[in-house]
Amino acid sequence: MLQLVSNLQRLGTETAFEVLARAAELQRQGKDVINLGIGQPDFKTPEHIVEAAIKALRDGHHGYTPAQGILPLREAVAADLARRHDVEVDPDTVVIMPGGKPTMFFSILMFGAPGVEIMYPDPGFPIYRSMIQYTGATPVPIALMEKNEFAFTADQVLGQITANTSLIILNSPNNPCGGAVPAQEVKRLVAGLERHPRVTVMSDEIYSQMLYGGRRHESFLRYPEIRDRLILLDGWSKTYAMTGWRLGFSVWPPALVEHVVRLCVNSHSCVNAPTQYAGIAALEGPQHQVASMVAAFDERRRTIVPLLNQLPGVRCLDPGGAFYVFPNITGTGMSAKDLQNKMLEEAGVATVAGTSFGIHGEGYIRFSYANSVENIREAIARLAALLRD
Ligand SMILES: Cc1ncc(COP(=O)(O)O)c(C=O)c1O
Repeated sequence: MLQLVSNLQRLGTETAFEVLARAAELQRQGKDVINLGIGQPDFKTPEHIVEAAIKALRDGHHGYTPAQGILPLREAVAADLARRHDVEVDPDTVVIMPGGKPTMFFSILMFGAPGVEIMYPDPGFPIYRSMIQYTGATPVPIALMEKNEFAFTADQVLGQITANTSLIILNSPNNPCGGAVPAQEVKRLVAGLERHPRVTVMSDEIYSQMLYGGRRHESFLRYPEIRDRLILLDGWSKTYAMTGWRLGFSVWPPALVEHVVRLCVNSHSCVNAPTQYAGIAALEGPQHQVASMVAAFDERRRTIVPLLNQLPGVRCLDPGGAFYVFPNITGTGMSAKDLQNKMLEEAGVATVAGTSFGIHGEGYIRFSYANSVENIREAIARLAALLRD
């Protein structure tokens, strides 16, 4: 037997990738599969962003960059945050990452250890819990409930803080439920955190530009009183349809910058140079493609929600943001996993069971509506036939 460290046993994974693999396998066998499983835009990266990367390669940007990211990109991030959230951000506190994930990986490594507690949303992005467990810290779920439109409340979070709480992970708009927290709750939470000055917040705002029904995103960055203990996670993957480029950014309290940059040096050195130039083009170029992608998601959301609500045993809330719906399927009499498997194997519709996102996900299924209206209609028609059988 190889001498692997025991921590590895505690590392989880992202089931969405397993569903994707099974869907691809079924497709290889000639089955027609509609993929509402994977959480990525079905659009191509806008052309001017692709061109900027090609130009950077042609211009000879082939070497290492500073681990923190090139300054013009960090300045572009600061300007983007000023434009979107009306806040001042020092480019020296911005760290360019290979995607959104490394920010959660590093911040959980920094704050997780046996004996401490880390709060995280459940249902939530599976990597939060996976990494908390990996560090040996105790995961403390913040239950996102249908009756609260899948948004955390300030009281809920504050009520779970103990002397051992080191980090609180928050995510709005949320994956997998699409819940978006109202500004009032963010304000109340920040006010309550004044009583807990040793607690750090990691706010995952990767879906911050995907909000519907007139909702506005309230960033934790807007609260100077917690900036010395706020880690903000955001990036290009979802907003600019760039999931495969691996580009993200985070904003750190000044005191943590040297630590996170050292982690970057130890892990990936820097993000590949041409992608960083593409990132500048994305932030400084035209934004109308972002607006049209969000409008397309909105149309799909308005298509899928009423269709799901017509299915027997299914009840679906109107989600506030991201590109997911999280219908309650308890009325079908099946567990989330059984229904997920049945839908994939018998109807050729890939989705992800709510339990892939935590214990509070039982009774729910995540549908990603990053697919065409036509495919969404066809998928739900197949499910209607399946559930009426
Ligand atoms: C809530 C949330 N945070 C972070 C990420 C990771 O993004 P990236 O692909 O940029 O690493 C995802 C991706 O699905 C996500 O849903």
